[in-house]
This record gives sequence, structure tokens and C-alpha cells, in this order.
Amino acid sequence: MGSLARFGVSLEKDLLNRFDTLIKEEGYTNRSEAIRDLIRERFVRKEWECDREVVGVITLLYDHHNGGLMERLTDVQHDYGRIISSVHVHLKRDRCLEVIVVRDKSRFITALAHQIKSIRGIKQCRVSMGSLGENI
Ligand code: NI
Repeated sequence: MGSLARFGVSLEKDLLNRFDTLIKEEGYTNRSEAIRDLIRERFVRKEWECDREVVGVITLLYDHHNGGLMERLTDVQHDYGRIISSVHVHLKRDRCLEVIVVRDKSRFITALAHQIKSIRGIKQCRVSMGSLGENI
């Protein structure tokens, strides 16, 4: 952490009370750390909005029995070619969870997620926005 600066914030009492309740539930012991995290989160979102090189974590849920799904999913990942890592978890007999970690410009990660989502049989496809951490 660099040198610290202090600043005052004015906001409605009700909003502040709700914020305090929220951050207490989340385990924060003071407002400063919660506000720092909010700011960092906003910067990560900005990196995604500005198509910076970022890290995306794509989480998938599917049934591997679905005809052709596994082949299609594998093809899409091979064609993309910039996947750092993936983990396949056999959740239940007919449920697979897969986590794919990608480092790329955000628009390519979003496009990959759209491509995967459109494969027949994918029940859920969610992208978590990560950062290389250089600007937060
Ligand atoms: Ni499986």
C-alpha cells in the first residue's frame, strides 16, 4: 500500500446504516477496507469495460451425456488457444462442473463465453471478472 490519504464522504444516514450492516455481515471491521475493496472492484470492472488484458474465470455446468457437447466444448477451447488452465469436476452422475481460466483482452474472453454458452446442453456459463492486479 502506498502512502495513505484521508477524505470525507457525505451520504444519507439511511444509506450509511445499510452500508455498515452490509459490511459487518461480510466480516469487515471498518469502513475503510470495505471502501478500498469497492474502489478496487470498480477499477477491475473498468479494465473489462476498456478491453484491457485481464483474467477471466468461466464456470460451466453441463451434462456430459449430452450428444456432441464434450467434443464441441473441447473444439472451442482448442480453437481459442489462450486458456491458462481448466478443471473438470464430476459433480454427480449427470452433472459436470468445469472452470476455465483465461488471460486475454476482455472482449475475447466475453466472446469465448458466448460461444461456450451457445453450445447445446450447457446449463450455466458464468464469467467472473479478474484482473492482472497491476492497477488496483
Ligand atoms: Ni464430468
